[in-house]
Amino acid sequence: LKIGIILGTRPEIIKMSPLIRGLQNKNSFLIHTNQHYSENMDKIFFEELNLKRPDYNLNIGSSSHGNQTGRMLVEIEKVLLNEKPDIVLVQGDTNTVLAGALAASKLNIKIAHIEAGLRSFDRKMPEETNRVLTDHISHYLFAPTEIAKKNILREGILEKNIFVVGNTIVDATVQNLKIAEQNKDICTFLSNLTGNNEYFLLTLHRAENTDSVENLSKLVFAITQIVKKYQKQIIFPVHPRTKKKLIEFGLFNDLSKNNLVKVIEPIGYLEFLMLEKNARLIITDSGGVQEEACILNVPCVTLRENTERPETILVNSNILSGCEPEKILNSIDFMLNNNNTWENPFGKGNSGEKIIEILLNK
Ligand code: UD1
Ligand code: UDP
Repeated sequence: LKIGIILGTRPEIIKMSPLIRGLQNKNSFLIHTNQHYSENMDKIFFEELNLKRPDYNLNIGSSSHGNQTGRMLVEIEKVLLNEKPDIVLVQGDTNTVLAGALAASKLNIKIAHIEAGLRSFDRKMPEETNRVLTDHISHYLFAPTEIAKKNILREGILEKNIFVVGNTIVDATVQNLKIAEQNKDICTFLSNLTGNNEYFLLTLHRAENTDSVENLSKLVFAITQIVKKYQKQIIFPVHPRTKKKLIEFGLFNDLSKNNLVKVIEPIGYLEFLMLEKNARLIITDSGGVQEEACILNVPCVTLRENTERPETILVNSNILSGCEPEKILNSIDFMLNNNNTWENPFGKGNSGEKIIEILLNK
């Protein structure tokens, strides 16, 4: 049995890491589309997580959706024709995932979709299209939870193809937090950055928030109101997409000149996990960060109108605020009064092992 792993962005490297490790002594190969390519969105994770380097770098980079996805499709097909794998693994909902799945499907190669069945029910999100289409051409649908399984059963996917295995983000979080906590340099990094004062952690990159000047302006205003009201610092490792838009819309200085807002470049996974774990509250529009906040027992406010991670809302680890400043402030108040005693609904940290066992025994 030969397995090809395809990935392209920061969260895919992190969530695939348990599978890359688990398959490295098996007949497998790794394709990186380089949808993400900046050192701190890409290489840093291979180094910190000690992962084998990709066998193929496709150097696709940034572009419009059609151009990016189309060029990935062409280049991935060439590799698959050459390698002839029996199964291709893709994870999540990026353009890399859709291109990888589509290329494999046309060559009659079986697709295993890790994190299958997530639905925001918002077709305006490019990720929702990617999720739905990928699920419908996959043979192995690795759903993290029963809720995800129900979503795809409802769409007519056969039950025998769905495996509820938890989410590999639990594996990654548990394994790497231990490593981070024992690393003196990372502990020093954390105390230098935060001054050992209480802080909120912020990430922001979703297209609907960053690409609209109206929404991004509201969010920047909200950030300035939050630090004023709570007199706590906000640590903000800014995604390159967001930095570009903040500068383009003339909003970057409003944040960087505020003493309580620490705008920094994206950081490594070990550093970020420690920042999450020690935050008083996390404010985000990221999918993976909503999950990690839940796993680490840190309350989360999500700057979106919907989420494909409803499990976090059901256990009360997360609340949806959208991007209206008043609603964001109310949501923060609400979550700060939470008792933070929920149980993580995403599994026990052995999803990678379960997935490999299922694939190798088929
Ligand atoms: C992509 C995914 C999104 C995922 C996110 C994870 C799609 C449609 N979107 O969004 O689902 O949540 O990755 O972070 O697949 N850029 C750099 N360096 C990089 C990568 C990007 O500077 O290494 C900048 C470029 O200006 C680029 C912009 O960020 O145009 C957007 O990058 P892109 O990969 O298109 O989308 P993301 O917003 O990163
Ligand atoms: N992350 C990181 N450094 C950062 C910001 C995020 O390592 O500066 C990690 C975070 O721990 C999570 C993942 O990146 O595992 C989330 O990626 P992102 O928010 O870009 O994408 P999404 O999960 O929304 O697709």
